[in-house]
Amino acid sequence: MNLILLGMPGAGKGTQAEIIERENKIPQISTGAILREVGQSNTPLGEKVQEFLSSGKLVPNEIIVEMLVDRISREDCKEGFLLDGFPRNIDQGIALDDAKVSIDKVIFLKISEDEIIQRMSGRRVHLPSGRTYHIKNNPPKIDGCDDITGEALIQREDDNPEVIKKRLEVYYEETEPLLNFYKTKGQDFHEIDASRTLDEVRTDIGKLLT
Ligand code: AP5
Repeated sequence: MNLILLGMPGAGKGTQAEIIERENKIPQISTGAILREVGQSNTPLGEKVQEFLSSGKLVPNEIIVEMLVDRISREDCKEGFLLDGFPRNIDQGIALDDAKVSIDKVIFLKISEDEIIQRMSGRRVHLPSGRTYHIKNNPPKIDGCDDITGEALIQREDDNPEVIKKRLEVYYEETEPLLNFYKTKGQDFHEIDASRTLDEVRTDIGKLLT
């Protein structure tokens, strides 16, 4: 089963992707997490990537497309994978088609701007694993610490009001057109109301995958 999760920044893609990965035994491929890791590396590429992440703009296609296609060609993706954060614009969608990557379902998490601002401002992340929490909605067992490793959680640099505004602009301009791209090509496309609780959203996604 090859899946794509689409949605505004902060819609809950990463949170649901972690659950889908666990319950369906397919790897979650988060381009945001991959890029944050590259951005932390002390290399010219890392510095370049970090500039895009900090500004809320998309990393250029020539950097991310090759990384993604290489990642899904690995052994652990043979039985399926879940793309979280890719494709992000029409050119990336076309790049998947050109690479002959077949997609079984596209799941769109629909949510309002007001709700995502609340979600992103309370988000805390364990950077090495990408595990995501929320100080109220999905708190870690111990305040400020990752449940599995006990390591410190951080607030993402791009979760500040100015960068969130930029990320939303980029979403409307570049990512939202993908909804029509997939609908018009006859892709198996599902819209889920992501403004509900984590478990309600999870249950609806679970029904689609059984
Ligand atoms: P990326 O990491 O992909 O960020 P995003 O798409 O902006 O999405 P987020 O990670 O912010 O949100 P999410 O939908 O995963 O929500 P989450 O589950 O965390 O990308 C970051 C940057 O990388 C981009 O700006 C770009 O620069 C670059 N990039 C990435 N992919 C790229 C690509 N393909 N091409 C070019 N550049 C790329 O949930 C949010 C919060 O809400 C959490 O705290 C969570 O605990 C909480 N929450 C989740 N679900 C619920 C619920 N149902 N109820 C209440 N709270 C909830």
